[in-house]
Amino acid sequence: MKILAIVGSYRKGKTIDTLVDRAIEGACAGRADDVHVDKLHLIDQRIEYCKNCMVCREDDPDKARARCVISDDMEAIYPLMEEADGFIFGTPVNMGQATAVMKTFVERTAWVFAKPGRRPIPGCPTPRTTRQKKAVIIVSSGLVPPLLRRWCDDATSLLRSHCVDILGAKVVGTLYAGAVEKRGIERYSQAAHRLGRRLTA
Ligand SMILES: Cc1cc2nc3c(=O)[nH]c(=O)nc-3n(C[C@H](O)[C@H](O)[C@H](O)COP(=O)(O)O)c2cc1C
Repeated sequence: MKILAIVGSYRKGKTIDTLVDRAIEGACAGRADDVHVDKLHLIDQRIEYCKNCMVCREDDPDKARARCVISDDMEAIYPLMEEADGFIFGTPVNMGQATAVMKTFVERTAWVFAKPGRRPIPGCPTPRTTRQKKAVIIVSSGLVPPLLRRWCDDATSLLRSHCVDILGAKVVGTLYAGAVEKRGIERYSQAAHRLGRRLTA
């Protein structure tokens, strides 16, 4: 089983990086021999903005992955995404949303892994893949506690729709590590481990 972990934090060794590592440990627990994990820090990658050229959207709908005309590090990331059975997405919540680097990444995958579908309105993205995939989502906020998540976390809904509508991955769990500046990261460590286990359970 192949897991792809995608880190959208600007800082290594901090909240999201740490919690994604815990989720990876959970995914591998007792299954280290048959789980392969790739972990990407988006901040290390050269990822250009989508050009809205729509070459991908107009590509053959029978292809599992459409062509992107941009030549950058996404060329190496696309095959990893296509081959993955499970995804771990992690991003801080900045101004209520996923980080800019995560949003840039998500836009670059949209019509590469989706094709125009029929529902809820004709033309809306539907996954190209027919494989059953799974995903978990981890977000963190500096100040906003879990009680207030619904008003301050649009990152999870963005990533959820990316998983379901684009990647064809069922979201089997999410973690909101709220108010980490006050509460600390350790408090969410076990929850991240449990989340990871759901990917391979
Ligand atoms: C530009 C910016 C905007 C932010 N906006 C919010 C916010 O709207 N709500 C909040 O609670 N924390 C906000 N934060 C704090 C981050 O969510 C927090 O630093 C992050 O979750 C920590 O993740 P990291 O340790 O992986 O960097 C913001 C941080 C930055 C840099």
